[in-house]
Amino acid sequence: MQNNIHPTFDKILKREDKEKLLNQHSIVIWITGLSGSGKTTIAKDLELELHKRGYLTKLLDGDNVRTGINNNLGFSEEDRTENIRRIAEVSKLFMKGGVILINCFISPTKEIRDQARSIVGPEDFFEIYVNTPLEVCEQRDIKGLYAKARAGLIKNFTGIDSPYEEPENADVEIKTLDYSIEESVQKILDVLLPRIEYKND
Ligand code: ADX
Repeated sequence: MQNNIHPTFDKILKREDKEKLLNQHSIVIWITGLSGSGKTTIAKDLELELHKRGYLTKLLDGDNVRTGINNNLGFSEEDRTENIRRIAEVSKLFMKGGVILINCFISPTKEIRDQARSIVGPEDFFEIYVNTPLEVCEQRDIKGLYAKARAGLIKNFTGIDSPYEEPENADVEIKTLDYSIEESVQKILDVLLPRIEYKND
């Protein structure tokens, strides 16, 4: 074995054992969208709805993860790629433990999201695009970051001087201007619940 590393994946309880215990099929829900688009707001309500129905979830979001495990990373393309790589690897570990992940990260490019999808495994990756126009995110500017980016105080800000590529084939797209938070969550649940229902086969 390379580097004297001896993984023991075959000796530990399997994902199926955990899923059976929890009576759920684990998955990584990946919510992408601009800063201030409403990703975390929708995710929090989604988590509450899943919790009420007896599902064990874990919510990860950019601002929290970047103050902990990823506090050494910035917003260059290279750092964002590493940010998402670590999050995808951590998510995979949780998922193997039977947990449903709700991840809210800008994850701005197709390449970055493809990396996450390929680490997690495409069959376990459930992509949601929270589609709020840049003008609206900027107008709301809840964290005051767009104003700072326009003033040149923050560099590489997504949507201003750093790109955001819209996903083309998201499992669910939420145009937040057309739906309330409650309706958005319901739209997600309609597609998600059949995917996480435990099937003993
Ligand atoms: S990602 O691009 O690497 O996926 P992530 O979701 O972790 O980004 O972090 C985004 C959050 O960091 C934003 O919601 C915002 O609060 C904050 N932030 C600080 N600087 C930037 C920046 N240059 N671009 C985007 N978000 C930033």
